[in-house]
Amino acid sequence: MAQAREPEPVVDERSIEVHWREEDTYQPRPEFIAQANLTDPDFYRRFSLDNFPDCYDEYARLLDWDKYWHTTLDASNPPFYKWFVGGRLNASYNCVDRHRVKDPNKTAIHFVPEPEDEPILHVTYQDLWIRVNEFAALLREFAGVKPGDRVTIHMPMVAELPVAMLACARLGAMHSVVFGGFSAKACADRMVDAGSNILITMDAYWRNGQLLDHKAKADDTVKEAAAHGLTVDKVLIWQRYPGRYSSQVPLVEGRDFIVNDLLPRYRGARVEPVSMPAEAPLFLMYTSGSTGKPKAVQHSTGGYLAYVTATARYYLDIKPEDVYWCMADIGWITGHSYIVYGPLSNGTSTVVYEGVPTYPDPGRPWRIAEELGVTIFHTSPTAIRQLRKAGPDVPRRYNHKFKLMVTVGEPIEPDVWRWYYHEVGKGQAVIVDTWWQTETGGFLCTQAPALMKMKPGSAGPGVLGINPVVFDEDGREIEPGSGQAGYLCIRNPWPGMMQTIWGDPDRFIKTYFAKFNKNPNSKDWRDWPYMAGDGAVIAEDGYVRILGRLDDVINVAGHRLGTKEIENAALQVPEVAEAAVVAAHDEIKGTVPDLYVALHPGVEPSDDIKKRVSDMVSEVIGKIARPRAVHIVPDLPKTRSGKIMRRILAAISDGREDVGDVTTLANPEVVEAIRQQVQGG
Ligand code: WT7
Repeated sequence: MAQAREPEPVVDERSIEVHWREEDTYQPRPEFIAQANLTDPDFYRRFSLDNFPDCYDEYARLLDWDKYWHTTLDASNPPFYKWFVGGRLNASYNCVDRHRVKDPNKTAIHFVPEPEDEPILHVTYQDLWIRVNEFAALLREFAGVKPGDRVTIHMPMVAELPVAMLACARLGAMHSVVFGGFSAKACADRMVDAGSNILITMDAYWRNGQLLDHKAKADDTVKEAAAHGLTVDKVLIWQRYPGRYSSQVPLVEGRDFIVNDLLPRYRGARVEPVSMPAEAPLFLMYTSGSTGKPKAVQHSTGGYLAYVTATARYYLDIKPEDVYWCMADIGWITGHSYIVYGPLSNGTSTVVYEGVPTYPDPGRPWRIAEELGVTIFHTSPTAIRQLRKAGPDVPRRYNHKFKLMVTVGEPIEPDVWRWYYHEVGKGQAVIVDTWWQTETGGFLCTQAPALMKMKPGSAGPGVLGINPVVFDEDGREIEPGSGQAGYLCIRNPWPGMMQTIWGDPDRFIKTYFAKFNKNPNSKDWRDWPYMAGDGAVIAEDGYVRILGRLDDVINVAGHRLGTKEIENAALQVPEVAEAAVVAAHDEIKGTVPDLYVALHPGVEPSDDIKKRVSDMVSEVIGKIARPRAVHIVPDLPKTRSGKIMRRILAAISDGREDVGDVTTLANPEVVEAIRQQVQGG
């Protein structure tokens, strides 16, 4: 990772996202302690390294298996691990059927449309079971979906999205959900990479008061995929309003099919859940890394489901009577693990909200929470910052009552944490700051809710069975409490860990293990610590403070974007010769992309070029990647070996006058010119 850049200190305090120190702690309220799912003090002993890997049998036993496993962990070929070998199960059975038998009328999903005058839809476990069965029948019979196929789902936040995912899981097919806000091009790239011939989409959805035409993206996706040699056989289109087509673009005969028209053919159909080996892949989820090409993180059926079921139970503290609301998008891993699989596998009621948190006003989340009696609330620091900015006193006007609030996805400033705690949680709810990644399937570091003190701005210690460690550049362990930062790694494998990168096992090894593996031939998992790509400090009490990415990844509003992806997009504008993107601090989104471009000789800078660069990034990746600013500069600061010094550009973007050492540059004079241009004066 860091090799692509000039050698720099592991954590340069100025180029990292976090700029606060260790904070004082808060103690949770006693009522919560008395009821916490993790109360048994023996838990952490049972999950100590001495009991690894068998401790994780306890997680797997939370699931219903068709056949029990004979081997908890096959670690004979690290870092490729097989969990619960010999076991067979079906994920949709575990998330739907087993609860539907016990409690058919319990709400599985509360679907909250963005328009406030549209009624909330309460989908019971019985309803969900019927809908998953019927849609699975449609997929199998109409679209020919078989076990092992990859089905791409490009949908907004509606109840039909978990239905589609669970229908794939029922058939043993892998879903690849692409975040609805991603562009057609991004969706097409993922379809091509996964070799996926079926696209499930929706005609339209509401966002910020507008009904967006989503089907138009499907047409472009199919075209773009065709240009890369992939034929999309069928596009299955859900209607946002069943019976009414809400898109302006026509259907393509023989390719496009309205799901709501086809479904009556499968009324009453039942599809036996396909019994899958524990290590069969459940889904692919694309995420950005240090190359220009997003990678498909592959998660297993048994290990992943066991891990998210248990971590949802113990760290979201989910109980049968809870109403749980995670405001993330299902198109990201948070939504997969902690809106769909974890909560449903536990038989909880989970909320799916279509729209933006501040629509039509910043009281919306608290009205939803009041109406549904939400007890556990889960969101990102960006959403908290947005809500605070739009209405710092608004939460007090509502009578919602949370027992637990979760934050995820980016570092949370202590100040923002305190607002969340005092205003949203009314000083009563417990907060857990959960650190993990697309690759890890579920939580890795967080305090046990209520049972451990809270520390604003720090994620907790490793969760059950997870042993975090921080290494310096040369792989030496940094002692907790030494105050020194380094590369955050996990010593041991765990059931929720990704299996591989789909189609690219070498990249899997290279990205996550190569740097700190001392012997590539070793067959001992102890020699293969997992490298997360984050810088961190471990305090004496074991709490992990995440400092931000150490690779070419930037975190915008809790979403991961690869700098190379953004730069490659900018380079598609013909006038652009070179591009460098940096993460600039932003009051709401944590960090945002700032783009610096140099033009080909003889081309005059213009606002038109800036606009086309910005539009190109948005078109190629999606709106979330749109740069805050495009700066056309005479040249990019480079070392003598030609590497672009993004660190200097980041300092300029953040308004710092002192941009650090420029003596190693081939063109130091350009730095001052850029600084004046961007900062003025
Ligand atoms: C990256 C992973 C895991 C769900 C959402 C993001 C950053 C994640 C925290 C946290 C500070 C965090 C890290 C990580 N991150 N949680 N609690 N505090 N930073 O998943 O898109 O795979 O991104 O998000 O940098 O590596 P993702």
